[in-house]
Amino acid sequence: MGTEPYKAAFFFSPPAHLLRSSILLWLPLLFISEAAVAHGDDQERFVLFDIKSHWSNAPALSSWDVSSPHCNWSGIRCSNGSVTSMSLPNISITEPIPPFFCNLTSLAHLDLSYNDIPGGFPTCLYRCSNLRYLDLSQNLLVGELPSDIHKLSSQLLHLDLSYNNFIGDIPPSIGRLLSLHTLNLHDNFFDGSFPAELGNLSMLESLTLAYNPFASPRIPVEFGNMTRLKYLWMTYANLVGEIPEDLGRLADLDHLDLARNGLSGSIPAAIWSLEKLTTLYLYDNKLTGEISGKIAALNLEEIDVSTNRLTGSIPKEFVNLRNLRILFMYNNSLSGEIPRGIGLLRDLRDIRLFDNHLVGVLPPELGQHSHLTNLEVSNNRISGSLPEGLCANRALKSVVVFNNNLTGELSASLADCYGLNDIQLYNNNFSGEFPRRIWSASVNLTTVLIDRNHFTGVLPDKLQRNLTRLVMNDNRFSGRIPTLAPRLLVFRGSNNMFSGEIPAELTGISRLQVLLLDGNRISGSIPTSISNLKFLTQLDLSGNLLSGGIPAKLGLLEVLTKLDLSNNRLSGSIPREIGNLKLSLLNLTYNQLSGEVPLQLQNRAYERSFLFNPGLCSFKRMVNLNICAHAGPNKLSERLIPISLVLGGVMFLMLVVTGMLMCRRRSDAADLPAFKLTSFHQLDFTQRHIIRGLTEANLIGSGGSGQVYRVNLQNRAGDAVVAVKKIRNSGKLDWKMERTFEAEVKVLSSIRHCSIVKLLCCISSADCKLLVYEYMEKGSLDQWLYGRRRTRSGSGHFQPPLDWRKRLGIAIDAAKGLCYMHHHCTPPVIHRDVKSSNILLDSGFGAKIADFGLARMLMKVSEPESASAIAGTFGYMAPECGHSKKINEKVDVYSFGVVLLELTTGRKAQDGGEHEGLAGWAARRLRDKGGFMGMIDEELSDELNYMDDIGTVLRLGIECTRRNAMLRPSMKEVLRKLTDIVGLGR
Ligand SMILES: *[C@@H]1O[C@H](CO)[C@@H](O)[C@H](O)[C@H]1NC(C)=O
Ligand SMILES: *[C@@H]1O[C@H](CO)[C@@H](O)[C@H](O)[C@H]1NC(C)=O
Repeated sequence: MGTEPYKAAFFFSPPAHLLRSSILLWLPLLFISEAAVAHGDDQERFVLFDIKSHWSNAPALSSWDVSSPHCNWSGIRCSNGSVTSMSLPNISITEPIPPFFCNLTSLAHLDLSYNDIPGGFPTCLYRCSNLRYLDLSQNLLVGELPSDIHKLSSQLLHLDLSYNNFIGDIPPSIGRLLSLHTLNLHDNFFDGSFPAELGNLSMLESLTLAYNPFASPRIPVEFGNMTRLKYLWMTYANLVGEIPEDLGRLADLDHLDLARNGLSGSIPAAIWSLEKLTTLYLYDNKLTGEISGKIAALNLEEIDVSTNRLTGSIPKEFVNLRNLRILFMYNNSLSGEIPRGIGLLRDLRDIRLFDNHLVGVLPPELGQHSHLTNLEVSNNRISGSLPEGLCANRALKSVVVFNNNLTGELSASLADCYGLNDIQLYNNNFSGEFPRRIWSASVNLTTVLIDRNHFTGVLPDKLQRNLTRLVMNDNRFSGRIPTLAPRLLVFRGSNNMFSGEIPAELTGISRLQVLLLDGNRISGSIPTSISNLKFLTQLDLSGNLLSGGIPAKLGLLEVLTKLDLSNNRLSGSIPREIGNLKLSLLNLTYNQLSGEVPLQLQNRAYERSFLFNPGLCSFKRMVNLNICAHAGPNKLSERLIPISLVLGGVMFLMLVVTGMLMCRRRSDAADLPAFKLTSFHQLDFTQRHIIRGLTEANLIGSGGSGQVYRVNLQNRAGDAVVAVKKIRNSGKLDWKMERTFEAEVKVLSSIRHCSIVKLLCCISSADCKLLVYEYMEKGSLDQWLYGRRRTRSGSGHFQPPLDWRKRLGIAIDAAKGLCYMHHHCTPPVIHRDVKSSNILLDSGFGAKIADFGLARMLMKVSEPESASAIAGTFGYMAPECGHSKKINEKVDVYSFGVVLLELTTGRKAQDGGEHEGLAGWAARRLRDKGGFMGMIDEELSDELNYMDDIGTVLRLGIECTRRNAMLRPSMKEVLRKLTDIVGLGR
């Protein structure tokens, strides 16, 4: 459409005319072929205009207009009047490369990276016979690479196709592009093989195949033919087998990265002769054998061989690696001592040797000769004391040495490190006074884990502002509890000798989640300001000298799950508000409490919570509790309760009547409530049955989205149970919401899949929405993962933990449901609110996806609640949800990844430490520590046979939660990987 006007404009455009004369002026040699040059010149201008219009006149191409010579246009370079280079990265091109592109016949350099170019590999580029540099990385290219890819220019030096969505094999003919210096194919979805013919690329200096799900290839011996290779990156490419000796022929190799594969066998001797090697990454494989002393011949700056099965000791020849900066060998079976000479290396920054069997002492000179920032040797059998000069260069940021046999006092010079942020000394035999100066050493101090030592000392009056985790239980600290730091999340100070009162200024630390001060000598009363700790999940003040009453405001701590106030001198009655808490542990034993146990707590789950309080009584029969004598004479307040109950009942009735009247007024028909029932399956009940069942006794859950009832419908066929969800909605639904609601219900009702919960019908009126589902006997997944010891519907039975096979089955079922929604529905359905509380379990632990964002959508009507609804899903939301309207099904993949992480780590989605959710925590943790040590749910720790599978699922969870949506696998791939595990396991 746009071409004609451009052409016309060009013919009469003076600048172009000038340009042509200038070429004639400056390049008189071209005079002979003036016509030809002018012709080529015109042609290319047209081609560029055509390209511009083909690319929908992308705004970044606005400089491509008639007023200037095209060689001056942005991104264009010419040589001798012909376009030789086009560099247009990151300008939001969303159309394919047009077929006539190579009418720019002189084009040598083409960079279209970081765009959204769709479609298959652009074979039209075969015609660009002068192309030397081609960068199409970071686009949306899909499909297989063509088998005739060698038809690209034989002069091609640089080919970058990384970060696209290519699948299948890398074709052997790529080995015929003999000029290639650089070949980047990483971060695609190649799931076939890569050819040995790559070995023919004898000029190649850089080859990247990392982050592709190849079908378990071996490294071909032919790779040894790429003798100019400097850079080989094959991380996370499913490699198996041994590392071929032939790689030893790559004499120029500088960077070798084969990390995160399934490589086995020992590291071939030839590797130790790669004299130019500066970076060696072999971490996270299954390599065995020892590290050779010949390593001294290398020029290593970074070595990471962590998380393998390496044995033997760390060769003392490491001292010859003068340039060594990074030394990572954690999570192996290394034994012996750490070579003392390592302390002399001048560039050494970061040492991670944790999870081995190392003995002996730490090199005494450590930190004196280099800017050591990180020392991690936890989980070994190291003895002796911490090297005195660790902070000599003031660079140290973290010292992580827990679970060793370290002894002696801490040197006060540790406080010289003003960047110190992480001190983890727990479970050693350190003694003496914990240097007081450390508490104020660094504003960056976030983590202090020093529990289970013999430290004495006192805490400063005020803790460092950025401190988030302070774990110091089982020491001999004394003095008062300080004013807590505003960012503190965890404070465990159990079993010390703290005394004095709990500071009343608890308002500043509203983020605190865990507060354990049991086993001290704390006196005074529990301050009511404790109710400011809105995020508190665990509170243990047992075994102290606390007196006074239990503050009723404790009942405001909505997320509290463990409350232990036992073994104190608390008196008075148990405030009714405590009954509102959803506690999995409540221990009030050994106090002097009296009066009636709140009604909600009178059930078998809390049977043992009140022992040894002689003054307590209950109506229901509970072990070792007296039955209350009705309305004792001296209990005025108790007598008031029934009265207020009656009053409350009356008010409730009034509300119901008003509600019904409102419903009625809005109805057109004069009949009873204007409820409209829409059924999606054959029903043998009516709305009346349902509405009648919405009683307090049938309430089984309530959350941000509304209440859920379990309604038993007796009908001719016998008992049928349904779950009814009542959307809580304070105001009236606005018209638009109504429409979206109906639309979504329509979508949902059309989905039929055994892994998606069946929506039987929907009952609605102007103010009220009821959704009727099949009843899922075992409730939601989150209850099994976290609320386990909480009794459901008063059954009073302790639930056993979910074993791994059940968890895997649940993951597979849920993946099936999502896969169906994404890949088999037209249009695809995006759930947008996948989380463990929306995965429901039937009697055989079959899992089904529920909820479909309906309630979430509806919540938007009333603002404050919608805020809390968002908070409820925090931790599951893909990062793009925050800042982009363009979300796709990958948001579900993200959320599902979080569920996989919950299933494997047992942590909650929100449980990621300071700023990040579980996904951030897991990714960071894996990156830092390399392996899954300490990440896996303790409740799975007995299932040793399944550890590999658990690791695989954890890793999949991390893949699904990549920040870049494009890099997340599809649900189809996720499902395949999960079912593969079952295939392997049996
Ligand atoms: C590209 O070149 C071909 C043949 O040389 C010609 O037929 C075609 O019109 C050109 N296309 C454009 C858009 O310039
Ligand atoms: C490439 O490697 C193979 C096997 O290592 C060898 O047989 C072949 O001769 C080599 N080719 C070249 C061109 O070096």
